Amino acid sequence: MAAEVSTTYTVPKLEDYSAAALDRAAAELQSALEQEAGAVQTEADHKNFRDRWMARKNGILTQINDLWLKAAPNEAKREVGRWVNELKIFVEQQIEKVQARISGGAQVSADKLDVTLPGTRRPLGAEHPVIKTMNDIVNVFRAMGYSVGTGPEIETDYYNFESLNFPPNHPARDTQDTLFIAGQESKPQRERLLLRTHTSPVQIRTMERQPPPVRVVIPGKVHRSDTADATHSPVFHQVEGLAVDNDITFCDLKGTLDHAMKALFGSDVKTRFFPSFFPFTEPSADVAVSCFKCGGKGCRICKQGGWIELLGCGMVDPNVFEFVKGNGYDPAKISGFAFGMGVERIAMCMYEIDDIQLFYQGDIRFLEQFA
Ligand code: PHE
Repeated sequence: MAAEVSTTYTVPKLEDYSAAALDRAAAELQSALEQEAGAVQTEADHKNFRDRWMARKNGILTQINDLWLKAAPNEAKREVGRWVNELKIFVEQQIEKVQARISGGAQVSADKLDVTLPGTRRPLGAEHPVIKTMNDIVNVFRAMGYSVGTGPEIETDYYNFESLNFPPNHPARDTQDTLFIAGQESKPQRERLLLRTHTSPVQIRTMERQPPPVRVVIPGKVHRSDTADATHSPVFHQVEGLAVDNDITFCDLKGTLDHAMKALFGSDVKTRFFPSFFPFTEPSADVAVSCFKCGGKGCRICKQGGWIELLGCGMVDPNVFEFVKGNGYDPAKISGFAFGMGVERIAMCMYEIDDIQLFYQGDIRFLEQFA
């Protein structure tokens, strides 16, 4: 304890300026200094310690100057002056060392953890409902042995349209619906870049990479030049599916999607397939699910219709296989089906959300309901 350290050292007068006497005086001073330095614990201790030794008015160094140097006989002054300077330097170094020791200590005590304080609350993050729904859909197909693929969001006209059997003047190729990248007029049409309008281009990319059989689902982001409203967003998500093998039939397509819808919405739902059109499937169908909420009687969710239209599908058009024929996709020998569904639309049904924009606004009051 600082209080118990004797600070009784006082600078003695020197009668004798012999080397032995100077050594003795220096040794006494140094041992007093070291003892006092060792006792310094706090900033306040250190201030007292420093003042006692360094204060201009009557600090020990000043006393040394007065009592030892000034009082020295003339012929000893030079020698005593050098000796006093060395002592001063020694004292200053000790004081600096003590300062470093206690400010280091202050750092350690600031870093100490007080385990009795209440902790910092870190709210748990959660999957966004769109991502959660996308994963739910993908997992249904993974359980049936499908692998998961991805592809680029910036596509060429070739993959997004041409290889999917879209005729050159198909309305989907119009800038009304598709976001093209500007300044590509000099490129041939098939090389022009655009933001993919669906995940279907990954069908072709998958078949270019691997020969049949193929069973793959492709989750991803797609873009359309739509004005945002309660049911439209220029950026949304789809899950694509593709199965190609020998002897795949429309029955396989129906059975697969019927199972998937039951897995997602409950085993009570029924599915209904009715004719539709997509350039890359023939025949094509839209699939509706009986309302999982009212069982088909009609309610707010199914807009009183009893059925909810959820996805597009069909048998892969032979014209599509022509583009990857060289990789084992001979349309005379193999067949396949494809489907595509909008993730936001399915999430909106599942969670009874009536405005698609809620997904993109990042409002924590909305999102935390899915945590
Ligand atoms: N790509 C189509 C769309 O975005 C959906 C679809 C995929 C239809 C696969 C049939 C087969 O509307």
